[in-house]
Amino acid sequence: MQHLIQYQSLLLNTRVYLGDYLHALQILKARDVILITDENLKSLYPAFVSKFKHILIPPGEESKSMDMLNHVLNQLFEMKASRDTLILAFGGGVVTDLAAFAAGIFKRGIDFVLMPTSLLGMADAAIGGKSGINFYNAKNQLGLIKQPLFTFIDTQFLRTLPYLQFLNGLAELVKSSLIFPGNSWDFIKTNQESLMKTQPETLQVVLDEAVQNKLQLVELDVSDMGKRQLLNFGHSFGHAVEANEKILHGLAVSKGMIAAMKLSVAAGYLRLNQAKSIASQMEALGLPVSFTFKAEYLIYLEQDKKCSGETMNFVFLKNPGEAFIEKMTLSQLKSLAYDARSISF
Ligand SMILES: NC(=O)c1ccc[n+]([C@@H]2O[C@H](COP(=O)([O-])OP(=O)(O)OC[C@H]3O[C@@H](n4cnc5c(N)ncnc54)[C@H](O)[C@@H]3O)[C@@H](O)[C@H]2O)c1
Repeated sequence: MQHLIQYQSLLLNTRVYLGDYLHALQILKARDVILITDENLKSLYPAFVSKFKHILIPPGEESKSMDMLNHVLNQLFEMKASRDTLILAFGGGVVTDLAAFAAGIFKRGIDFVLMPTSLLGMADAAIGGKSGINFYNAKNQLGLIKQPLFTFIDTQFLRTLPYLQFLNGLAELVKSSLIFPGNSWDFIKTNQESLMKTQPETLQVVLDEAVQNKLQLVELDVSDMGKRQLLNFGHSFGHAVEANEKILHGLAVSKGMIAAMKLSVAAGYLRLNQAKSIASQMEALGLPVSFTFKAEYLIYLEQDKKCSGETMNFVFLKNPGEAFIEKMTLSQLKSLAYDARSISF
């Protein structure tokens, strides 16, 4: 069995483990478990899924819906789940968001454990305690902030993850390595080849740092009202690109990070050569790095959830490992975007 790494947050009352999923089975063996997963994962890991009573949902973002929440809750009642039952969410961010929300409201909240299987889930969705579904044609409108009993990350599951989904998560890992101090950005640069071959041990090193950093940031801002917004690096323009080009979230964030770096250069915070070197490294990793400012993107900025009234908190980059939030008026931001149009990398 792989060595088990464990982080514990006393403040959040949760743990994250990195290691072989067999350890998770040992931890869970005394519990009444109901596993929730999607159909793709059941067909890829039938032996694991069949170890538990389980609830299946169709794969894809459409499953983060009121109808599917209703289905899961009905199934829990039909399976006679009690307050002692533990929900084990096994899947990507869709499964963990939906299952954690269902667990959070079933009988006023029962224990749940997250076992993310996508890189985005491991790097982001299964850490921090946010769960929810889409509603009223918008993302994550209903949900909770409630920590799992623990999150268990086993990078071996990434072997079956489609490559585009891998890149989707890699963008979030690159984001994490750029905004938090540490060695991740250098490690990513020097281990590019094994990273792109989705080598589990290499991924574990990068995830290790990303998970610790995210947990520590969440501890500083449990209710997501301040410092946690650092995680939105690349997301302001990323959301605009996502809506415009209909590409995967992580790939849009990759382009959004390029936009944020162009703005950082225009504002004099980031050196052009540094920005160019980051962008070429991101491209070498297979991430999309083309970004052109379009007038319609500014409409998205105005609707952005980080925008309150006339100001918004924008995340700038100074160096790899050094990002900061600055309150900007929309007209300041528009004028920076105007200056940044001529910056190319
Ligand atoms: N709660 C949070 O803090 C948070 C943070 C970021 C994203 N999210 C949410 O996460 C969701 C996106 O998550 P995602 O990118 O994991 O998407 P996803 O859950 O839809 O998974 C993507 C696809 O990969 C498949 N898959 C997952 N693991 C696999 C594996 N090991 N092998 C083969 N196929 C596998 C899934 O079946 C699915 O088809 C969004 O709804 C987003 O809002 C939540």
